[in-house]
Amino acid sequence: MKRLENKTALITGAARGIGLAFAKAYVAEGARVVIADIDITRARAAAEEIGAAAVAIEMDATRQESIEGAVETAAEAFGGIDILINNAALFTAAPIIEITRDDYTRIFDLNVAGTLFTMQVVARHMIDRGKGGKIINMASQAGRRGEPLVAIYCASKAAVISLTQSAGLNLIEHGINVNAISPGVVDGEHWDGVDAFFAKHEGKAPGQKKKEVSASVPYGRMGRASDLTGMAIFLASEEANYIVAQTYNVDGGNWMS
Ligand SMILES: NC(=O)c1ccc[n+]([C@@H]2O[C@H](COP(=O)([O-])OP(=O)(O)OC[C@H]3O[C@@H](n4cnc5c(N)ncnc54)[C@H](O)[C@@H]3O)[C@@H](O)[C@H]2O)c1
Repeated sequence: MKRLENKTALITGAARGIGLAFAKAYVAEGARVVIADIDITRARAAAEEIGAAAVAIEMDATRQESIEGAVETAAEAFGGIDILINNAALFTAAPIIEITRDDYTRIFDLNVAGTLFTMQVVARHMIDRGKGGKIINMASQAGRRGEPLVAIYCASKAAVISLTQSAGLNLIEHGINVNAISPGVVDGEHWDGVDAFFAKHEGKAPGQKKKEVSASVPYGRMGRASDLTGMAIFLASEEANYIVAQTYNVDGGNWMS
């Protein structure tokens, strides 16, 4: 028996990377997925690759009307949303004395406000529908502690962990489980960008930071998007009905709490 049979998932930022891996893994477990991304070209290509169980929609999770439109379209596409993964996020890095207010606003608008208000709009839909649901927010080991050059992103992911706790406690009375996944370092295009930030601010050769973080993971390598799919399936399944407001580390042993 597939674990997500007849469920519909809305996954933000699923045109590539971890979100795309989640979309494919969910479809393999019997779900239908709505790939919601600001990059509609790649979202469409991803949906085409997956097939009839996937649709692509354009969504800018920093804009309220875009969130509302996307949730409405997603709900219509397959007859209601059972699962939301708040996955879209941006990264930035800079020393404290170089941080700009514009960068702070750009990151918090997506990573924090985008997570909160997408959760809110989907929760309203789930409550109206009366069937409960599962909401999974993407946190990060960056949200577990600060890092010298990563203040804004770390703070944004700490906020995701906190929002998961508050929303989890508030929404469980409607049968909506809110939990989060906290990855460590996951190779892919996102980390190509992270590596470039460190090359700039720490004077490292391209690829050097990736080598260093790989070597420091207790498991012995960087994560792959496929390392996270098991937890994403589990948290969206009925097996996780009694799990509320938690954040799970899936990081090869990088962080323990
Ligand atoms: N890769 C890692 O090492 C790592 C580690 C910890 C946590 N995470 C978290 O996991 C999640 C996925 O990471 P990833 O590595 O796949 O990221 P990614 O950068 O590869 O993908 C992010 C996706 O979000 C989309 N996006 C950007 N702005 C958007 C917006 N305003 N509205 C809608 N979509 C938008 C992008 O087009 C892209 O498809 C993120 O929340 C990230 O913070 C990643």
